Amino acid sequence: PGASAEHFAPSNIALCKYWGKRDTELNLPVNGSLSVSLDHLGSRTRVEPIDGETDSVWLNGTQQRPDSRFAKRVSAFIDLFRIYHPEQAFRVTTENNIPTAAGLASSASGFAALTKAMNDAFKLELSDTELSVMARMGSGSACRSLFDGFVEWQMGVREDGMDSYALPLEQCWPGLCVGLIHVDENEKSVDSRAGMQRTKETAHLYQSWPMQAAADLSKLQQAIAERDFALLGSVAEQNALSMHATMIASWPPLLYWQPDSVAAMQKIWKLRAEGLALYFTMDAGPNLKLLFEDASRGAVEAQFPGLEVVQPFGI
Ligand code: DP6
Repeated sequence: PGASAEHFAPSNIALCKYWGKRDTELNLPVNGSLSVSLDHLGSRTRVEPIDGETDSVWLNGTQQRPDSRFAKRVSAFIDLFRIYHPEQAFRVTTENNIPTAAGLASSASGFAALTKAMNDAFKLELSDTELSVMARMGSGSACRSLFDGFVEWQMGVREDGMDSYALPLEQCWPGLCVGLIHVDENEKSVDSRAGMQRTKETAHLYQSWPMQAAADLSKLQQAIAERDFALLGSVAEQNALSMHATMIASWPPLLYWQPDSVAAMQKIWKLRAEGLALYFTMDAGPNLKLLFEDASRGAVEAQFPGLEVVQPFGI
């Protein structure tokens, strides 16, 4: 049982971050979050039913050992879809056109694409909301990668998580640019999953995070509705730095920044003081994501040669 299926899902950059879970089994967040999807950057995932007992998991052309963390996580996720056909194994092939585990949320696009592919493979015909709930169980941020443009993940309050899913926001923003600075593409030592757990368990500072996130989320909604770039950029930057403050206050401490990350921050602050409308955000890694508008693109590219620029809504 089951057919072959293939889907693409975009990576997404959170402007208000998901950091901390109230349920680690179901990936239920402590706070709501808001992201923008990266259009053509993401994951293409193919699933094919195969004979045998174990899934065969391939990532960017390399077969993953069945006992690797990644392969186990993928198989456990497919189990959620395998309820009626528990014996059916799959070959899962994922190609990312973004660096894996470099803080560019490749698990988000990967699990979102896999969710859509499994939905087709078993002809489940799930709604967008149901797909988002399923993707969330693979990786929290994956629930946002089901949609293009601005996306809000509503945290929900139910224990079963059925009200914790993402929804696309109506607004679009032609000319909005996301620039990717590659400080370090090596696999990070503490992934988001372990990092947010450590923060929640050990950082007293984390108590202030849900309030910060709630305030930022509503300011971002306002910024998007009014197309106020200075508000969008400043809220996103402060939200990211607040999240990093809770990471640094964890024990053992979590500092994802490299010297080059800090140098880039200081360069951005200097350029901004000189009048360039440029902001940044960062996830659980050393790479910065720049936020600016099309009108500043030339000036930003001149300062950051080799910058990869994505325009989520076109020009
Ligand atoms: C810093 O979604 O990777 O990128 O639910 O454990 O799979 P799991 O975590 P994950 O965490 C993403 C954290 C973040 C912020 C964000 O994308 O909102």
